[in-house]
Amino acid sequence: MDFETLVTTRRSVRGFQARPVPRTVIEEIIEVAKRAPSSMNTQPWHVHVLTGEPLERLRRRNMEEMVAGAKPKRDIVGHGEYQGIHRQRQVDIAKKLFGAMGIARDDKPMRQDWVLRGFRQFDAPVSLVLTYDRVLDPGAVCHFDLGALCYGIVLAAWDRGLGSVVNGQGIMRSDIVREVADIPEHENIMTCVAMGYPDDSFAANAVKSDREANSDFVRYVGFGD
Ligand SMILES: Cc1cc2nc3c(=O)[nH]c(=O)nc-3n(C[C@H](O)[C@H](O)[C@H](O)COP(=O)(O)O)c2cc1C
Repeated sequence: MDFETLVTTRRSVRGFQARPVPRTVIEEIIEVAKRAPSSMNTQPWHVHVLTGEPLERLRRRNMEEMVAGAKPKRDIVGHGEYQGIHRQRQVDIAKKLFGAMGIARDDKPMRQDWVLRGFRQFDAPVSLVLTYDRVLDPGAVCHFDLGALCYGIVLAAWDRGLGSVVNGQGIMRSDIVREVADIPEHENIMTCVAMGYPDDSFAANAVKSDREANSDFVRYVGFGD
């Protein structure tokens, strides 16, 4: 795929085939993605790739905790509820996803089912948990570095016919992720990427999210026009 096609056709995938993802393919994806730039070439990242029983255990425990009403407990600082334009964009994508899935606004059981899918990382066959060296906290710069790595992973996966969704829902409790994946204390858990071969019959996979016009968020300075 040429670069523009890759970037513009990519979208988050939330429904997967049961087909396993070969370890060699994940290895290739990480090989490509690690060419991401990082501050002073610090490469502060670690990737923990989960599948099979450990991933099933993570899904189950994450879901049980959240259903029981546990508070999210992340290694990174949260921003709380989105407000204003950010909230509006959050609502817009939720409407599109629910619309595609035929989930009505007042259909509480189906809405709850969708949330539970999120807590299960949408039953993806693989999850890549991204962490960084805790010694780099407070982490703004290394968070940026992990974002670059993460986007590289998502694009390299898409280029190989794999879909993914970056997700916070699947790792709401960092302590559980740490225990299940045996992540050392000196790493902070940033996010995870649920990945697998897309299930094309899953309606939400066709949803294309919106982006603002450049004129809404880009300024040109010194161009003289
Ligand atoms: C840091 C981060 C966390 C995310 N967490 C979730 C999540 O918990 N659940 C989910 O369904 N999507 C999650 N997403 C996916 C976004 O909703 C998605 O990227 C956005 O709506 C744009 O859609 P697109 O990826 O299809 O272009 C997350 C994305 C990022 C970058």
